[in-house]
Amino acid sequence: MNDQANPPAAKKLFIKTYGCQMNVYDSQRMAEAMATEGYVLTDDQADADMVLLNTCHIREKAAEKLYSDLGRLKPLKAERPDLKIGVAGCVAQAEGEEIVRRMPLVDLVVGPQTYHRLPAMVRGEAPAILTDFPSEDKFDHLPQNRATRRAPAAFLTVQEGCDKFCAFCVVPYTRGAEVSRPVDRILREARDLVDRGVREITLLGQNVNGWHGAGSDGTWGFGRLIRALAGIEGLDRIRYTTSHPNDMSDDLIAAHRDVPQLMPYLHLPVQSGSDRILKAMNRKHTAAGYLRLIDRIREARPDILLTSDFIVGFPGETDADHRDTMRLVAEVGFGTAFSFKYSPRPGTPAYERPEVDSHVADERLQELQALLTKQQKAAQEGMVGRTLGVLFEKPGRQAGQMIGKSDYLHSVFVDAPRAQVGDLVTVRIVESATNSLHGELAA
Ligand code: SAH
Ligand code: SF4
Ligand code: F3S
Repeated sequence: MNDQANPPAAKKLFIKTYGCQMNVYDSQRMAEAMATEGYVLTDDQADADMVLLNTCHIREKAAEKLYSDLGRLKPLKAERPDLKIGVAGCVAQAEGEEIVRRMPLVDLVVGPQTYHRLPAMVRGEAPAILTDFPSEDKFDHLPQNRATRRAPAAFLTVQEGCDKFCAFCVVPYTRGAEVSRPVDRILREARDLVDRGVREITLLGQNVNGWHGAGSDGTWGFGRLIRALAGIEGLDRIRYTTSHPNDMSDDLIAAHRDVPQLMPYLHLPVQSGSDRILKAMNRKHTAAGYLRLIDRIREARPDILLTSDFIVGFPGETDADHRDTMRLVAEVGFGTAFSFKYSPRPGTPAYERPEVDSHVADERLQELQALLTKQQKAAQEGMVGRTLGVLFEKPGRQAGQMIGKSDYLHSVFVDAPRAQVGDLVTVRIVESATNSLHGELAA
């Protein structure tokens, strides 16, 4: 708040975020960086002085959204030529100046590892296109103060980039090599968030469980980081995403048994249930190896809810491979899962490989999604009658209603007229709806 008699009118920044949670986090950090330049966030694009599109390159459709959104901005830019338009994120990294060639209305292009320089770019003190992988750590050059955080649940990026080079994936090229943030920076940011009322932190990374950061006494593993975070008073819940099966260390699995703050939920993408396809994808694990891992995780935390990602129609996938995937899904029983039709991405090893017939891939996708939907329904129905923790994140549409997340990350609607956002309450689940649960406050 500004108490001056005639405060200068704040400039308004509109940010649209595509893609994964890491982009959501980056958008918050960019907003904080731009706040130092006098920009406040607006929800109204038509009213903005600057529009920033934080983009995703993972599938063709995701990348094309950028160009259709830029096309729609043309009349606004024609009306107000001083409107600044910036493109950030993974399309910015992958396509760089090509974006400005295709869409001259774009003023700034900034990659995921250079956005700490956004204020300088806006001032004209840095190049308008910045997509290198700088040697400095952007986090050291961003405002330390996470002042825009108001919600009880927050993201915290601890690891960036990927060295795994799955044959279909752009992430190693758009986000760069794997880098783990040091322990002291992570703990400081977590404490700062908790001081601002945050009770739940989701640790983020493209391979978050591969995190191995510098600690006071050498390199720490991810399990140890979670134990240290669990020592922060007031941090009631810890989650993490996304994990790679090959980085599930014994210590991390043990943390699921030992650390009550670590929520019983794990997103562990497997992509396929066929060893032949897993090999062609360069995943470096087998279906049986994944199933053994799931057994060990469930031994440590029997009630854990597992979710995953699948790609159908990867080059070379046969009906038999697809049946292997269906069998793996049936065997594990997922709480929910994301499944995608393979999208060839330029620059990745699989790009030139002959594609599976599109209709065949569509049919496989439907079949897989039908099974996953059934499993999701069963998992939700299994919650009915149980008493769970729910962290209220926002009021519901109906008077007196609150919406929060259960321990297992289900959205739960609860009648709680006297409750506030940020309350962590005990709820008895009474009903399962399509994508949410209904509960009542337990005595
Ligand atoms: N780092 C995460 C994945 C991030 S991308 C991991 O290793 O699990 C999120 C999901 O998008 C992937 O798990 C994969 O299922 C999907 N995906 C990635 N590239 C894709 C492509 N070219 N076509 C279709 N789906 C893709
Ligand atoms: Fe992509 Fe594979 Fe890295 Fe995940 S592990 S980000 S799917 S290359
Ligand atoms: Fe998309 Fe980049 Fe995330 S490609 S999924 S926004 S890391």
